[in-house]
Amino acid sequence: MSVQKEVKRVTTRTIQDMKVRGVKISMLTAYDFSMSKLVDAAGVDVILVGDSASNIMAGHETTLPITLDQMIYHASSVIRGTSRALVVVDLPFGSYQGNSKEALTSAIRVMKETGAHAIKMEGGEEIVESVRRILSAGVPVMGHLGLTPQSIYKFGTYVVRAREEEEAKKLIHDAHLLQEAGCFAIVLEKVPAALATQVAQELSIPIIGIGAGGGVDGQVLVLHDMLGINTEFKPRFLRTYLNLDEQITGAIGRYVADVKSQDFPNTSESY
Ligand code: KIV
Repeated sequence: MSVQKEVKRVTTRTIQDMKVRGVKISMLTAYDFSMSKLVDAAGVDVILVGDSASNIMAGHETTLPITLDQMIYHASSVIRGTSRALVVVDLPFGSYQGNSKEALTSAIRVMKETGAHAIKMEGGEEIVESVRRILSAGVPVMGHLGLTPQSIYKFGTYVVRAREEEEAKKLIHDAHLLQEAGCFAIVLEKVPAALATQVAQELSIPIIGIGAGGGVDGQVLVLHDMLGINTEFKPRFLRTYLNLDEQITGAIGRYVADVKSQDFPNTSESY
């Protein structure tokens, strides 16, 4: 008789405990079944079905065009590849900014149609009413402050946020508001390390950074960036662990050459 080892799913509580115990939280994006299976098997704690799918999967310049239906398609594919990671799904631009009822409807669609475990939303004070309403329906919410790509046309640039005192103060205020509203974690994107460290120390919920230094409770990167698939994007905060761009084009080039030279298929590859 084979005894199958049951994999314990990471929950919002698990990552809260990790913060208390000082264990760093690893988070990566994924947008499809095959990749999420690999990310999950490698032991990543949290998988984010980011609206960066708009850039990475669809080739758009920004995250704005991706729709709720498209996010639901990506998220339901990701869920099928996981057995351990906590799966968080971005509510896309235009699916929650209108009012808190619209936000709740979008969050419920994600939870019902994908089987994901939580949603993520960008913004602070402006969205706190929606955060409360979604939480009151029992849906866990992750916040996202600092560089919030859905507001790129307001910022006009992807440079580091909250370098100035006024913006830093607002960010700290927003982080406290999101925690008080009940968010289980917050992503801080592209802000000075000292500010991110201060937020992580002041708040009791996990702070997960991207370009926010090492003083936070966990790190998140976009999968295709850290695997070196997307070579045009090289911010200072990015560490690339593979050079998949070269490896994939090299392998495909060899396949093309083998087909042309009739080396492929050989007799052992034929019926
Ligand atoms: O959409 C995304 O990939 C994100 C991460 C950069 C945090 O929001």
